[in-house]
Amino acid sequence: MFRTNTCGELRIADIGKEVTLSGWVFHRRDHGGIIFIDLRDRYGVTQIVFDPESNAESHGIADKVRSEWVLKVTGIVRARGEGLTNVNLQTGEIEVLVTEIEVLNTSKTPPFEISTEKDVREDLRLEYRYLDLRRGKMQKNMKLRNDMTHVIRNYFHGKGFLDIETPIMVKGTPEGSREYLVPSRLHAGDFYVLPQSPQQLKQMCMVGGIDKYYQIARCFRDEDLRGDRQPEFTQLDLEMSFVEQEDVIQVVEGMLHELTEKCAPQKEWKKYLVNNQFRRLTWQEAMEKYGSDKPDLRFGMEFVNLSVEAKDSGFGIFEKSECLFALKAAKENGELSRKDIDNLTKLAQQHGAGGLAWLRVGEESGPVAKNSNTEFINAVIEKTAAKAGDVVFFGAGEFIASTEPLGAVRSELGNMFQLKNPNEFAFAWIVDFPMFEKKDDGSIQSAHHPFTHPQIEDLDKLESDPLSVKSYAYDVVMNGVELGGGSVRIHDPEMQERMFTALGLSKEETEMKFGHIIKAFEYGCPPHAGCALGLDRLVMLWADESTIREVIAFPKDQNARDLMLRAPAPMPAKELAEQNIQVLED
Ligand code: AMO
Repeated sequence: MFRTNTCGELRIADIGKEVTLSGWVFHRRDHGGIIFIDLRDRYGVTQIVFDPESNAESHGIADKVRSEWVLKVTGIVRARGEGLTNVNLQTGEIEVLVTEIEVLNTSKTPPFEISTEKDVREDLRLEYRYLDLRRGKMQKNMKLRNDMTHVIRNYFHGKGFLDIETPIMVKGTPEGSREYLVPSRLHAGDFYVLPQSPQQLKQMCMVGGIDKYYQIARCFRDEDLRGDRQPEFTQLDLEMSFVEQEDVIQVVEGMLHELTEKCAPQKEWKKYLVNNQFRRLTWQEAMEKYGSDKPDLRFGMEFVNLSVEAKDSGFGIFEKSECLFALKAAKENGELSRKDIDNLTKLAQQHGAGGLAWLRVGEESGPVAKNSNTEFINAVIEKTAAKAGDVVFFGAGEFIASTEPLGAVRSELGNMFQLKNPNEFAFAWIVDFPMFEKKDDGSIQSAHHPFTHPQIEDLDKLESDPLSVKSYAYDVVMNGVELGGGSVRIHDPEMQERMFTALGLSKEETEMKFGHIIKAFEYGCPPHAGCALGLDRLVMLWADESTIREVIAFPKDQNARDLMLRAPAPMPAKELAEQNIQVLED
């Protein structure tokens, strides 16, 4: 037997008992002959004591052990000496006087300390992830992730959803990213595709009469990585039959209420509820007010629409612009230097703006003051309620161009002025998304995916004015992060074909890529709708982390590499030949 108790378990009530513990050497101290070791496992730390006078042999072995060796010890639980209680440890009132010790394994000196929370280079942490997982923070995050998936599974099970596993080797499904391919050995030249999401399979489940599906599903997307994106990530995925948008919203929202109450009870979130529900914003409203389809609602700083005033501003660029939005950075939140403004300008440019026009109220400085007439300046001051010293930023151009860069500036000002309270969760639903968006080459693509149903009243504009068509798509957002998104789906095969045509797919392409789903829809497909949430993002926010790598046991680095396994890696020529693959030289 390796243990009678864990290292987090023993208390005063256990004094006098003989116990056996197994774990890792956390700290080791030699106090004038008596050796103290903090023995650690997943459950906690227990102080074990080696006294040469009571057991010389064990003491001799303890003298040689080093950090991260694995020990099994047997001994008697006793109270710590007067004034020696460690209030920071759950087991801090007792210690174990060791009578027997067995070294289960030795350890090389780890490349970083397990016992401190000191910052360690991330590449080193990822190369030695098995050691990093031993550290307090990762242990806490893995436990939280487990607790959250447990709440999620209970919730969906309780509502009658079936947990269905969909395959990983599939055919492509369009979610807007490049796909990972798996070559087929048996079918030379053919490839499986790893799923970007189980989208089409869950729709097939609805055709299959499953009615309520959910899955904690692994997804794969070959896209540019950021803190909240991994090439391999997990979705909480769901789909329901005979439902409307509102039904899905209610189910997902109920789950998020429960997840917050049970796994983040310390967060303030109810103050953001409206009639006990998450706030709702249309996409148009979110963009007009915050320049983002995932606005951080923990602070105000809403835009002011000056599109009408712009027309007689005297400032050529503004007069020619379809839209003009203003964002006030109040002096009372913090003063902005020229350098700050230059940095914000760079940020706006990174988000597609040509520049960032600004006006410091009460001074004749800034490009807007120099180029516009007094009436316009007065209108700006009045409509933004700006006071002397406040800086007003402007976004001009088409709707997206005038709002999105300004949204990035708003978010950054929120950081600079520390307006994003880390103790709050501000949830919201964004609804009525546009059906399509314009690509750089002027063609259109689905804003969500091509299985999303256009809003009924916009159907007649599908071909004539696609960019004005709204869809039954919805996103749930929190603190500036998109947690998840979903939509009511098309269930009529003719409508689905019409959608593919609107997206510019020929009959042949539609048949080749999506013939299977249209075929399935021809056999009595029920009306259905669903949603998927990024599980990694949920855990990241619940754990107060800023990247999802901190809540994934074995994540890839920012270049999509697994530093521990050293993947991806070259393959021997023989294996490549078996898979019918030839690698092109550079
Ligand atoms: P979508 O593409 O919006 O929708 O994805 C749903 C959610 O998955 C998370 N997510 C990611 N998380 C980490 N790394 C990534 N690379 C990544 N990409 C997406 C986000 C996102 O909100 N099939 C549809 C859902 C549906 O319509 O039901 C879909 O996949 O949190």
